[in-house]
Amino acid sequence: MSDLIPFAPNDDGLAQAAHLLRAGGTVAFPTETVYGLGADATNPAAVAAIYAAKGRPSFNPLIAHVADIDMAHRLVDISNTAARLMQAFWPGDLTLVLPLRPDAGIAPAVTADLPTLAVRMPNHTTALTLLAKAGVPVAAPSANPSGRISPTTAQHVIDGLGQRIGGVVMGAACTVGVESTILTLTPTPRILRPGGITAGQIAAVLGQSVDEPQAHVTDITAPGQLTSHYAPTVPLRLNATDARDGEILIGFGDIPGTVSLSPDGDMGHAAATLFTILRRYEAKGKPLAIAPIPDHGIGVAINDRLRRAAAPRQKD
Ligand code: TXA
Ligand code: MG
Repeated sequence: MSDLIPFAPNDDGLAQAAHLLRAGGTVAFPTETVYGLGADATNPAAVAAIYAAKGRPSFNPLIAHVADIDMAHRLVDISNTAARLMQAFWPGDLTLVLPLRPDAGIAPAVTADLPTLAVRMPNHTTALTLLAKAGVPVAAPSANPSGRISPTTAQHVIDGLGQRIGGVVMGAACTVGVESTILTLTPTPRILRPGGITAGQIAAVLGQSVDEPQAHVTDITAPGQLTSHYAPTVPLRLNATDARDGEILIGFGDIPGTVSLSPDGDMGHAAATLFTILRRYEAKGKPLAIAPIPDHGIGVAINDRLRRAAAPRQKD
């Protein structure tokens, strides 16, 4: 592929990036969670280029990103329950898995031939401007080689996918830092992947309980939720209070470590720095150990990613 184009995150740059998307190119862009690798979700060749650039298995479907709720209405059937969640959490880091409309025009590879489509409206001005200018739903997985750590800066994208993609919007670092919460509503509300929006917040809006994945069970409903994912290139030991045998300890709160996710024990800060710290310290080539993170709020999402990062390797 030709040289990667860096797009400025301003009106001109985003117009050029949108033009490349409409022409069938792949463009990485920032969202509040992680950087996504976007392509026109209605263009089969463009979607195929995402799978090729990432080395992603074809059975793992993609999220369609929309500029507004109207665009979502053209793609999926939106029940009253779904509409209430969109009202409460969009734009934001809640991805909804909803019945795909037969006339949606989505390339079959986006859904990996499932009858459902995952849709999300990111809470990020640059992303929303790009999506509005593109005027098409944009399929976008995290912009990392399949199975590796998700990117939270433009430089992470360049390091991982470099010359394999058309361009990257050179935005700022992502503020949330872990991927969106994924929720299915059928037959009842169930979280397929924990993220910044918690089961408790969703339950409060719906007035009904929301199932969460069991920590030790591999969820086969979200095809991408295989056990090993977000994998660093070195071993990772969880719930560590000290460094053993040449390990580098990543601290949190009272456990200082060589580096800390958050010395104050702020979990939002820990989520925002998690992937950057894992990348920086895996590059040192030594085994990593990481302090315990409380398992509530966004800590549930952090612990989900850490368990997958520590699991025996397998491609996602
Ligand atoms: O925060 C995010 O969600 C980021 C940014 C870029 O928006 N995107 C992201 O995409 O994390 P990706 O491809 O890395 O993860 C998407 C997950 C996968 O685990 C996939 O299996 C699941 O969503 N998924 C997509 N469509 C689905 C569907 N129809 N049913 C169930 N799971 C689905
Ligand atoms: Mg991913």
